[in-house]
Amino acid sequence: MAYRAGIVGASGYGGVELVRLLTSHPGIDVEVVAAHGQAGEPVANLFPNLAGDRHFDAIDPDELAALDVVFLATPHGPALDLGAVLHDAGTRVVDLSAAFRLSADGFGTWYHDVHPRPDLAAGDDAAATSTVYGLPELPDPVGGARDAGGATLRDRIREATLVANPGCYPTATLLGLAPLASLIEPGTIVVDAKSGTSGAGRPAKDHLHFSHVHGDLVTYGAPAHRHTGEIERWLPAGLGAITFTPHLVPMSRGLLATCYGKLVDGTSATDVQDALHSAYDHEPFVHVLASGTFPHTKALAGSNGCQLSAVVDDRTGRVTVTSAIDNLGKGAAGQAIQNANLLLGLEETTGLTAIGMYP
Ligand SMILES: NC(=O)c1ccc[n+]([C@@H]2O[C@H](COP(=O)([O-])OP(=O)(O)OC[C@H]3O[C@@H](n4cnc5c(N)ncnc54)[C@H](OP(=O)(O)O)[C@@H]3O)[C@@H](O)[C@H]2O)c1
Repeated sequence: MAYRAGIVGASGYGGVELVRLLTSHPGIDVEVVAAHGQAGEPVANLFPNLAGDRHFDAIDPDELAALDVVFLATPHGPALDLGAVLHDAGTRVVDLSAAFRLSADGFGTWYHDVHPRPDLAAGDDAAATSTVYGLPELPDPVGGARDAGGATLRDRIREATLVANPGCYPTATLLGLAPLASLIEPGTIVVDAKSGTSGAGRPAKDHLHFSHVHGDLVTYGAPAHRHTGEIERWLPAGLGAITFTPHLVPMSRGLLATCYGKLVDGTSATDVQDALHSAYDHEPFVHVLASGTFPHTKALAGSNGCQLSAVVDDRTGRVTVTSAIDNLGKGAAGQAIQNANLLLGLEETTGLTAIGMYP
């Protein structure tokens, strides 16, 4: 018997990717596709790939609370409210927004708002164990540093009620840098990242018009993009402040994070490769490419994969790690389903085995 799921924010880009991926998931049936302004409208009017006569539902917390799992794919404001209501009702939730990823203090710093439920903030060391940051491959800061086979967050996600699905930039960056934490000098990390326009969501915005984006490349958010705080919070302790600079690139999907750090004296290129392989050779979704081979965003499109590779520059003593994902896949909906599989006791890869589309 399949688990019963609801998606809130199904009329947005993250939500509709959940609908698409879950359509072929053998263990989860989507019973509710809830939207806000689009409630009552035919799904196919917005998303022609989902032809049929399904309409967006209204958001009904009581109806959602009766389901086995609810995905929240809304802005963080409504997710703060609904996530808390569903958590308190004992319903398993995967929240794609930033509502629960940081400590209450961190949320105040980066989102300029008072967190209404500090007890549910995954970034707070004292938070209830019912909330967990949803990057299953990340070493568990509570469980200790990872060596081969060491504890990762997936073990706690299995026991959680509320999962704070990571942001897209933090996912690519943390996967690239976390295994190298002990090899990098604190305070030396710089991340230069690029995302396609779907990272900004579905609502029309002037700077996202085709005629503005096409043929253009622009920096935004520097020096204090909100994902900076999330990356610093979830990098292994002691690495210090980072410089994070995102860019908007003229493509629909895809995200590439190029991460630089000064290596601790005596660190070799072999040490770097060994650390990456030790972390990921047994992971189903993270693939380490040979040094000198660089990942393509296009190769990950539609998948839950991350491809990364590292090169060491002996001249400067720096490592460059390049990490690519689909922002709507491992950066949002794919990762949310990976987390739901863990929450529900399903095989972690269920419904997520498709590889990317190329070309
Ligand atoms: N896009 C990405 O690559 C990405 C990656 C990682 C995480 N995220 C996060 O995932 C969440 C959704 O992102 P998105 O890109 O899918 O955004 P989006 O395309 O703008 O969609 C937002 C969704 O939330 C609904 N919504 C808006 N205001 C609401 C309210 N006050 N109450 C309830 N629902 C409301 C919208 O409904 P209507 O359309 O019916 O009004 C829509 O379904 C955000 O928190 C975002 O930061 C996005």
